[in-house]
Amino acid sequence: MSYNFDEIVQREGTEAYKLELREMVFGSKDVLPLWVADMDFKAPPAVIKAMQERASHEIYGYTIRDKKFTEAIMVWLESQHQWSIKEEWIEFSPGVLPSIMVAIHEFSEPGDKVIIQTPVYPPFYSIVSENGRELVKNSLVEKEGYYTMDFDLLEKQASDPQTKIFVFSNPHNPVGRAWKKEELRRIADICIKHDVLIVSDEIHSDLCLFGNQHWVMADLFPELSDRIITCMAPSKTFNVAGLSTAYAIITDQKLKARFHKRLWAMQLHMGNLFGGIALEAAYSEGAEWLTALKKYLEGNALMVRDFIQENMPEVGFVLPEATYLLWFDFRKWGLSPSKLKKAMVEMGKIAMNDGVSFGTEGAGFQRMNIGSPKVIIKDGLERILKVRNQVYKH
Ligand SMILES: Cc1ncc(COP(=O)(O)O)c(C=O)c1O
Repeated sequence: MSYNFDEIVQREGTEAYKLELREMVFGSKDVLPLWVADMDFKAPPAVIKAMQERASHEIYGYTIRDKKFTEAIMVWLESQHQWSIKEEWIEFSPGVLPSIMVAIHEFSEPGDKVIIQTPVYPPFYSIVSENGRELVKNSLVEKEGYYTMDFDLLEKQASDPQTKIFVFSNPHNPVGRAWKKEELRRIADICIKHDVLIVSDEIHSDLCLFGNQHWVMADLFPELSDRIITCMAPSKTFNVAGLSTAYAIITDQKLKARFHKRLWAMQLHMGNLFGGIALEAAYSEGAEWLTALKKYLEGNALMVRDFIQENMPEVGFVLPEATYLLWFDFRKWGLSPSKLKKAMVEMGKIAMNDGVSFGTEGAGFQRMNIGSPKVIIKDGLERILKVRNQVYKH
């Protein structure tokens, strides 16, 4: 079957966050929305069909998730990641962020320290500090656009007895790394040695590109089983983020029981009817669509790379190992972060995520979402070039 990712689907009038919040975030509605991490593509046909069929029943009452839900997850993880899991390891959650929040509440006390690796997806900051925990920044190390980890610092931070949790982004948003086995090994060793719980956010794991592989940390290192919570979802993979449906996988049944109890205490267990239907259809019938999507995203990323090389070689950019989020380094333009943001919005009329929203390390960077038809990405690149022609003195 062929899928048309070039199709332009109008999202106006659908209350899309990406469109509606432009005025609030960028001060203008007249900007090309290449920011929020959802895609401008229709969901896989099987997902649409399943939801339409269920919608035609016309009663949408309280609904359970039965074996179909957990079986779809088990089959998906086995086929995509060669991860064999047991049904009892799976816990529904209405989102990956809610899963992280539940873990923070259950496995740390107010005032305890939680490590994140910055620059990182902005809610990682608020989920720690707004839930009364102390944030510990383990800055990633950047060299010519490629990011690695500072393990010495991580070890030092993990060795603090107040440090209880490490919230890990794998693959990493926004730097696009799909962490390698050896890197995961070092993290595992440090967290075991210093008794730190790993909350492994693997929401982007299905979106490895250019032959890169995702390693499921919990699968690689069974010795982590009583200290790792793996958070996953179909939301990024199949563009169904508005359906609030995710899950956590926890091997150790004592750990799982605590997570489960806390999730229920917080009344987060109900979920919504359509999310379950979408997950089952996507995981059962969406593999071919995903293969086509990844090919299209790779094409977009390569187009961006070529455009940058030809037209603005001073902009730092490396192809992402995973995710549809590109991380551009505009530091050579010599603008302050606020001037860079203003220039993109006012001169370029383009809305990308401002680098500093991911942390101080993001000063001079912008994140572009390439989950859109090629013509839109091309338009975005032309807009950036327009800015460059006005601000870059070379
Ligand atoms: C690393 C990461 N975690 C979590 C989320 C959000 O997950 P959810 O909507 O399931 O809470 C995102 C969305 O962009 C993300 O990039």
